[in-house]
Amino acid sequence: MNSALSSQPLADFIRQLPKAELHVHIEGTLEPELIFALAQRNGITLPYASIDALRAAYQFQDLQSFLDLYYAGASVLIAEEDFYDMTMAYMQRALQDGVVHAEIMFDPQTHTQRGIALETVFAGIARALREMRSTAGISSRLILSFLRHLTEEEADATLTAALPLREAYADLWTAVGLDSAERGNPPERFARVYARCKALGFHLTAHAGEEGPAAYVRAALDALQVERIDHGVRSEEDPALVQRLIRERVPLTVCPLSNLKLCVFNDMQQHNLARLLRQGAMVTINSDDPAYFGGYIGDNYLACAESLELTRNELVKLAGNSLIASFLPQSEKDRHLKQLSEFTV
Ligand code: HPA
Ligand code: ZN
Repeated sequence: MNSALSSQPLADFIRQLPKAELHVHIEGTLEPELIFALAQRNGITLPYASIDALRAAYQFQDLQSFLDLYYAGASVLIAEEDFYDMTMAYMQRALQDGVVHAEIMFDPQTHTQRGIALETVFAGIARALREMRSTAGISSRLILSFLRHLTEEEADATLTAALPLREAYADLWTAVGLDSAERGNPPERFARVYARCKALGFHLTAHAGEEGPAAYVRAALDALQVERIDHGVRSEEDPALVQRLIRERVPLTVCPLSNLKLCVFNDMQQHNLARLLRQGAMVTINSDDPAYFGGYIGDNYLACAESLELTRNELVKLAGNSLIASFLPQSEKDRHLKQLSEFTV
C-alpha cells in the first residue's frame, strides 16, 4: 500500500493519472464565453442576451433537446482561427486533467452544410493539435464523425470530399465515427459507408446504446464492424450482449455526466459504469460535450469515484482501459501504461 498516494485528495490523485480521452466532440467543448466571443468576431447575433442566459438554457430532457443547442452553438465557427481557438481551449483544459492522448470527434457536415470549407475545419483543428503535440507532448487523433440524422449518401459524399485531405492530415485523421440523433437511426443505415471506411484502413467507432436500444450496439458490432462503442450503457439491458462485450474486450467510451444531463440515468448513484467495470467490461470515462454537460474528463472521473465509490485502483484501471482502448501504437500505449502503473496503491 502506497500511503502517499492513498492519502492524497481524490481530485489530485485523478488529475495525475495519465489517461486518454476517447469520446469528446470538439464542437461540444465550445464554452458560452467562446461562443459569444466568436459571434462578436464574426458579426453573428445570438438569440441570447448574455453568456449567463445561454448557459441557463443548458437544461436538457433528452439527446435531441441538447443537439438543437449544440448545432446552434457551432454556427459561430466560421474561420480557421475559430476552429483553432476552440481546439486550443479544449487541449489546454485536457492537459490540466492529465490527458496524455485525446481522440477527438468532429462533425464536418455541421460545417459544410453552412458553407464552411472542409479544409478550413481540418486546418484549424489540426494546427492546434500539432502545436500542443510539440509544445506540451500531448498526442491526438481525429475521428471524422458522420451525422446519423442525415442519409448514408450524404455521409458517403462527406467521406469522398474529405479523402483528398487524408494525406495532409495522416498524422491525425485515422478514424471515423457516427453521432447525432440515435433513436430511429440504426447503425445498419450506414453499413455501406462503414465498409468503405474499413477498406480504406480507418479505425471504426460509432455511438450506440446511449438512447437507442441494446440492439443498436449489436448492429454497430455486426453491421458496421466497429472496434469501440461510444456510450453503450444500454447494453446492460441484454445480458448476453454484455457477456459478448466482455469476451471480445470491446471498449465502451462511457460519458457519465453526459448521461446524467441527457436523462439516460436519473442520478449518478444509478449509473451502471461501476457494475459494468466490476463484471469485467472494458469501460472508459470521457466527457462527450464538456461545455454543455457541466464537466471535463477529470470531473467525470471524480463524479463516478464519489457516487459509485470507486477505489483508487479502480480509477487506475479505468485510466489504463482508456490507454489500451486508444488507437495509439502499442509502443506508445506501453510507455503511458508504465507511467500509470506507478499509481497503483
Ligand atoms: N450523442 C450523439 N451525438 C452527439 C453527442 C452525443 O452525446 N454529442 C454530440 N453529438
Ligand atoms: Zn458523443
